[in-house]
Amino acid sequence: MQLIKLEKENGVCVLTIDRPQALNALNREVLDDLSAALDLVAGDPDINALVITGAGDRAFVAGADIAVMQPMSVSEGRDWALMGQRVFRKIEDLPQPVIAAVNGYALGGGCELAMACDFRIASDRAKLGQPEVTLGITTGYGGSQRLPRLIGPAWAKQMIFTGDVIDAATAERIGLVNMVVPAAELMARTKEIASRIASRGRIAVRLAKSAINRAMDSDIATGSMYEAEVFAECFATLDQKEGMKAFLEKRKPSFTGR
Ligand code: COA
Repeated sequence: MQLIKLEKENGVCVLTIDRPQALNALNREVLDDLSAALDLVAGDPDINALVITGAGDRAFVAGADIAVMQPMSVSEGRDWALMGQRVFRKIEDLPQPVIAAVNGYALGGGCELAMACDFRIASDRAKLGQPEVTLGITTGYGGSQRLPRLIGPAWAKQMIFTGDVIDAATAERIGLVNMVVPAAELMARTKEIASRIASRGRIAVRLAKSAINRAMDSDIATGSMYEAEVFAECFATLDQKEGMKAFLEKRKPSFTGR
């Protein structure tokens, strides 16, 4: 993996998209490396939370690579969209929670990548947008699906139809990012949240992620049935025994992730 860096520390892994000379734009190699990195993270029992960010201080990801897309045919365009969608779906379906640390431009495929993460923390220098229509194309990596689910159809339509780029404060106001922090503190603050997640009952956190994902894809009755099943599954874990015992004994739990 030339274009992705992985660093692990105390249950938290930081994945950095490392193509700063092109503002971390997504070409096939970046997407292939990202896909391989996600497979490694998914199978690593020592990773309880993942943070995704971009190399350098200018960009998270400035979009899919425009030079690569410019000569594409209709069928190449379709394949390109499906390829990116498959990789981003892997992020959404990753067993561990994923936080985007949006350190600069998150445009087009970059904004879509951030949206495939479970939530987003932005630096005060971040800029987000779906500028595809300024290039004569639509979103292709899930933007038309995830943006309205996140911020509602009216804001999603304004952003996608105008192609306007918004600042971090606006992104926070409309719910596209959870929190804005000073640029110099972005990684520390994001890792702090990831560490808190990593310290909780691992199986419970993973089941909670799958239940919330299910909520977005199903009606409330189906989703609630699924919730009852994952809730029940927790009672087969040592972490449930330990978590509740520790509470009753007025001490901190010592989770083993089993
Ligand atoms: N695809 C390919 N290359 C990209 C890119 C993208 N999406 N975004 C940036 N780059 C490259 C530039 O071509 C440039 O390469 P060069 O140095 O070889 O000329 C380099 O990254 C730096 O970008 P540059 O445009 O010179 O920086 P800037 O500060 O003037 O502008 C942006 C920054 C993000 C506003 C501008 O790069 C931009 O608009 N990028 C495209 C954003 C976009 O439309 N994304 C959606 C794609 S679907």
